[in-house]
Amino acid sequence: MTDSAAHAPATGAARPATLPGPRRAGDRVRALRGLLSEPVPVLDELGERFDGTFGIRLGPMTLAVVGNPAHVADLLALPTDHFVWGHVANTLRFYVGDGSMIVSDGADHRRRRGAVQPALARRRLDRWIPMIVAETDAVIDGELAAAAAGPVDLFPIGRRLVLRIVTQALFGPELAGRTDELDALIEPAKTYLEQPGLRQLPHPVPGTRRARARQARAALDAVIDGEIARRQRAGDSDGRDDVLAMLLAAGPDGTGELSMDEIRDQVVTLIGAGFDTTASAVAWTVLEAASNPTIWTDLRAEADAVLGDRPVDALGRAELDALEVAASVVAESLRLHPPGVFTPRLTTRAIDVGPYRVPKRSMVLWSPYLAGRDPATWPDPTTFDPGRHRDPTPEQAAQQRLALAPFGRGPRQCIGFALAQMELTLITARLAQCVDLTLARRGIPPAYGMVVNRPLGGVPATVTPAAGAATHHAAR
Ligand code: HEM
Repeated sequence: MTDSAAHAPATGAARPATLPGPRRAGDRVRALRGLLSEPVPVLDELGERFDGTFGIRLGPMTLAVVGNPAHVADLLALPTDHFVWGHVANTLRFYVGDGSMIVSDGADHRRRRGAVQPALARRRLDRWIPMIVAETDAVIDGELAAAAAGPVDLFPIGRRLVLRIVTQALFGPELAGRTDELDALIEPAKTYLEQPGLRQLPHPVPGTRRARARQARAALDAVIDGEIARRQRAGDSDGRDDVLAMLLAAGPDGTGELSMDEIRDQVVTLIGAGFDTTASAVAWTVLEAASNPTIWTDLRAEADAVLGDRPVDALGRAELDALEVAASVVAESLRLHPPGVFTPRLTTRAIDVGPYRVPKRSMVLWSPYLAGRDPATWPDPTTFDPGRHRDPTPEQAAQQRLALAPFGRGPRQCIGFALAQMELTLITARLAQCVDLTLARRGIPPAYGMVVNRPLGGVPATVTPAAGAATHHAAR
């Protein structure tokens, strides 16, 4: 029996129960400290002990971790006005800006999100399929070919690839050559936001991490403004299909939906939310898939059949949809290693999840990581088995739908989920088609990172061209 069984109300009881969780002051402080610095070990320990959902009392406040799949489903089905995202403890605001959708609520959130949504709608994403495969090919033929002599860490290579793809999706091809500069402008924010919450209290002291993050944000704004000015000078705003073009069309010169500050804030948000998350997922997916020769062989057979040596410009939705093995490998990677192990929101009223009552003004951390490892849904949960996503029984499929939520659900679901899934599927398939990877380490490393969960030690591997890969290469 997990400890939570002791706290659940007797069958038929009308009153919701108090959240189970560590009670002794020392245990609560230790759990809190872990959650705010290296959360995975705490989630593993307390998730198992309390069946996925638990609370930590901090004076008058409760920190509620919700990871049991049924409770996550209850939570994500509640109306958004039961929560706020733009609360004072949301330290993201400092970097993404007051106008960002990610720190907005109510009508502001709907308007800001609504302006971005059409640019990331599934049917519009299809046009980026050739670009994503071509960028992957450039990495295979460039950095990976050059690294053939010995082990190389694939993590930074994958990260640069994702940044090039996200940059092109947001700005078109012009800024793709400046990804190192963009990376350098994102880094200070990442370093700042990875610090424990107490170190992120507002202060104006120069020379600190906070000051560097602020300067980097100003420099990033200058890059965005420069690109807008370049478009205006060149008169090439029409006919573009990148996200910035669509925001500008809906912005001050278009319908007036977003101000210029709001446009900058959405662009910075999309870079910030869309880049390191996807890069981490690429790393975990490659690690898991390359650790299992059968999976890599299955991926290659599928990619040979679907992508073959067709020119990248001929690739589209039909090919993406046919990459079923690759999609199942990605789903399994996101189940076991969701880049965001939890996502915070503050309750505006008391809410019920499963048998438990979460008080008003609680900080809720709902956890796709715990839901993805729920032993009642996923037999042998820590085993990487893409097969579980292919042809499940209707009963299993229904259970899995509740428990697989790496991107969240409902009106606050990740706005970039379709782009991320597309990138991950195409990158995984193309890599498996063209190279063999011999990992330098045995086993899957532990995770680290608070904002984004990454493999400790990266992905060191020796890369060799796959037999027959020259044929694909020649055709590209
Ligand atoms: C594997 C990659 C990714 C994962 C796992 C991921 C996961 C998530 C999660 C869990 C949320 C929060 C849902 C909630 O609050 O309940 C979220 C929100 C968000 N994501 Fe992603 N994301 C990924 C990639 C992307 C990409 C590629 C973009 C954009 C290009 C993006 C942009 C956003 C934005 C803007 C939000 C806030 C949405 C809102 O507040 O309405 N993400 N993401």
